[in-house]
Amino acid sequence: IPSHYEKDVSSILIPHGVIMDRVNKLARLIVDESNGPLVVCCILKGGHQYFADLVNAIKKLTKKSGLSVPLSLEFIRVKSYHNDSSSGDVKVSLTEEECKDFEGKNLLIVEDIIDTGATMVKLLNKLEQYKPKSIKVTSLLIKKTDRSNGYIPDYVGFAIPDAFVVGYALDYNEYFRDLDHICVISEHGKERYAL
Ligand code: PRP
Ligand code: MN
Ligand code: MG
Repeated sequence: IPSHYEKDVSSILIPHGVIMDRVNKLARLIVDESNGPLVVCCILKGGHQYFADLVNAIKKLTKKSGLSVPLSLEFIRVKSYHNDSSSGDVKVSLTEEECKDFEGKNLLIVEDIIDTGATMVKLLNKLEQYKPKSIKVTSLLIKKTDRSNGYIPDYVGFAIPDAFVVGYALDYNEYFRDLDHICVISEHGKERYAL
């Protein structure tokens, strides 16, 4: 833990090395089940670290085992959270032109966490209008919570308890993205970075 966050997290939930092992396994699963070129869509900002490591893991597979799939990369900004709860009002930044490029493609959506599921359901509704050939979703984390709308992604890294987690690009009011491990935020951290 960097010294600037020492008091702001209460525990390490998933150490960075464990995340990386799981990402490598997910890359293998995704490539094994892929069917032609993939448009890999990074959901910013929280998805960027998992996206980067997943794309690298897929590239490594190509070198090591000859498993090979062409990737193109897209970036979609989606935002709903303030403090520790979803605003319920999900904003998706995609132009009509960008959406039209999805027609007939195999999309792989890469997200950091499914909490209530509201963000993903809203995003999928929007993407489906543009007639991709297929849409698969991978989320590094899914939260076990009674606020869930029931949505479950195709490829999940870890199911986690109902605590507010940060690190590995997951934020609390934009802080903690610069932390390698996935950690539980402390009361001290919540107060320090409250809006
Ligand atoms: C977070 C997270 C997911 C979403 C999950 O994004 O990265 O995208 O919330 O919550 P839900 O399942 O309850 O909808 P946020 O809106 O905080 O934007 P960010 O990725 O830029 O941090
Ligand atoms: Mn997000
Ligand atoms: Mg956020």
